[in-house]
Amino acid sequence: MSLKEQIDLTRLPKHIAVIMDGNGRWAKQQGKNRIFGHTNGVNAVRETSEACAELGVQHLTMYAFSAENWNRPQIEVSALMTLLLKTINGELKTLMKNDIRLGAIGDIDALPKGVAKELREAIEKTSGGKRMELILALSYGGKNEILRAVKQIALQVQKNEIGLHEITEDLISDNLYTAGRPDPELLIRTSGEMRVSNFLLWQLAYAEFYFTDKFWPEFNKEELYKAIIDYQNRERRFGKTSEQIKQ
Ligand code: FPP
Repeated sequence: MSLKEQIDLTRLPKHIAVIMDGNGRWAKQQGKNRIFGHTNGVNAVRETSEACAELGVQHLTMYAFSAENWNRPQIEVSALMTLLLKTINGELKTLMKNDIRLGAIGDIDALPKGVAKELREAIEKTSGGKRMELILALSYGGKNEILRAVKQIALQVQKNEIGLHEITEDLISDNLYTAGRPDPELLIRTSGEMRVSNFLLWQLAYAEFYFTDKFWPEFNKEELYKAIIDYQNRERRFGKTSEQIKQ
């Protein structure tokens, strides 16, 4: 049986989040510069998106640029922004053809103006896509996202729009960039690193973590299938006992 056939389509994660790591190390292995790694990383983004859409995953969030990534050498930051712009423009038709809508989380205003504009236009143009949402995390930081939510809620309290008893977990979720989407059930991180790196700190509370030694440019459909099969073999207890779950 192929890997794809081993997946139980009735128990797919609705939302998969991915920390795409290892572009630089992969490129170094090939004797190339880091930008070469990022450029090849785009192929893995395409493969993963396609595979998720084919299977019926509803939301796919990819950590494309963290709030901390601004601290990388200027030349790499510029190259990543150029690549992002090129990718958005280059993939727009494919997204529309495949009924996929684009989304973004993070401080989009911090992106270069041209990139933010193209991104917003692409989000608008693909907004009718019903099959899957591909969410790019850009200039994204989890702690900052929570801080922003706290401030938004505090302002509502200050204006007497809501009372303290109305501050609930749901209200916090509603004030995050990811508002309206289910929390990811599965987090995938490539390149052997086992950290969460300030990604979706609130939303990953009950996610299953899957780590692979593959570098991001090596990630493909088969690797995604392996992650989903692994996820489907886990027992998700949400604080209960194994016996309770089996009942
Ligand atoms: C991590 O590898 C990767 C990034 C910080 C950027 C991810 C970007 C892409 C895959 C390409 C652009 C994506 C889109 C959606 C257009 P790293 O540089 O940290 O690798 P290293 O840990 O080996 O140095």
